[in-house]
Amino acid sequence: MQALKVAMLGCGVVGTEVATRIQNRSEALAERIGAPLKLSAIVVRDTSKQRPGIDPSLLTTDAEAAIADADIVIELMGGIEPAKTLIRSALDHGSSVVTANKALLAANYGELMSAADTAGVRLEHEAAVAGAIPIIRPVGDSLAGDRIDRIMGIVNGTTNYILDQMDSEGWSFDEALTTAQELGYAEADPSADIGGHDAAAKAAILSSLAFHAPVSIDDVHVEGIEDITPEMVATARDQGFVIKLLAVCERVSESPAGPGLSARVYPALLGRSHPLATVRGAYNAVFIEAEAAGSLMFYGQGAGGEPTASAVLGDVVSVARRKVLGGRGQYERPFHEDSTILPISA
Ligand code: NAP
Ligand code: HSE
Repeated sequence: MQALKVAMLGCGVVGTEVATRIQNRSEALAERIGAPLKLSAIVVRDTSKQRPGIDPSLLTTDAEAAIADADIVIELMGGIEPAKTLIRSALDHGSSVVTANKALLAANYGELMSAADTAGVRLEHEAAVAGAIPIIRPVGDSLAGDRIDRIMGIVNGTTNYILDQMDSEGWSFDEALTTAQELGYAEADPSADIGGHDAAAKAAILSSLAFHAPVSIDDVHVEGIEDITPEMVATARDQGFVIKLLAVCERVSESPAGPGLSARVYPALLGRSHPLATVRGAYNAVFIEAEAAGSLMFYGQGAGGEPTASAVLGDVVSVARRKVLGGRGQYERPFHEDSTILPISA
């Protein structure tokens, strides 16, 4: 089968990992999809920057030409514009789009999803919430037949890393933030992390999916961690608590017109034996309460290039497979018929 052409918009922390994996895992990906993926262009601001492992001949600043030539577009540049215009352009061109851009989605969720529906293509965004943790599909698809009442958790890796380093290592706020930036956890503008806006964007996306309602970032009450001092962290520790930035999305009332909803992000004091108190570093954890399913817990790496690339590539395989197989499912793909099931040794 002919290769599927993939244009990538952005090649920073996440994009570099995605491009590297598309190149290094090409055979395995082709087998899962039923056709090879071919990176056709990588759009950046500065084509002269050194990018180890990236084929310089793919770099371009011409995003519209890259989109026009692609079957699938991956948006990893971040921010609202030009990302929004370029995603609209890709959808109108008939390409499915994979994005990790929670800031854009939280402000334009309904509009962009409708544009994808109208164009008959997909806008996948598993990487937009909680890094490597599969949470968008569980909330949007797997639990679609249930009634979700509450989602609560840690959905920002940078702030969890900062608070954890202040608590466990006695680091200053600035020292921990600088290291979070070096490790690739923070947004290009880290005020989105420490101000709670990144977590609020994720809360808006999860609320929209969970409650089938148009919840935007402006509907989310936000308090960040900018004012948390080492003294506060130490006092909390001395009294058996830990400070965590929580996102809480819940159904607070029911009426014929629809549910009454609340979504908020704030630093909270948790007892040290609380399950969320044990979430270390840039890990995230999300608890869901649903009417029939009861309590569910999701945990994993919430930020960083490699974990996020895992979620992006899952979406890429999903849209590519759909393109190759049409409406047929993943089990159309050949299994490894020569795999060996090892006997359990005594
Ligand atoms: P990043 O390191 O800042 O990389 C951004 C990339 O986009 C760079 O390659 C940059 O080009 C390019 N770019 C930015 N504006 C552009 C423009 N106007 N025209 C052309 N290229 C442009 O960002 P990142 O951390 O990879 O994050 C990318 C997206 O993933 C964001 O939406 C972020 O919120 C999301 N995300 C990040 C993480 C994480 O842990 N980092 C996790 C989940 C989701 P140059 O290289 O030339 O500057
Ligand atoms: N800056 C984000 C965080 C990246 O720290 O959680 C993952 O969405």
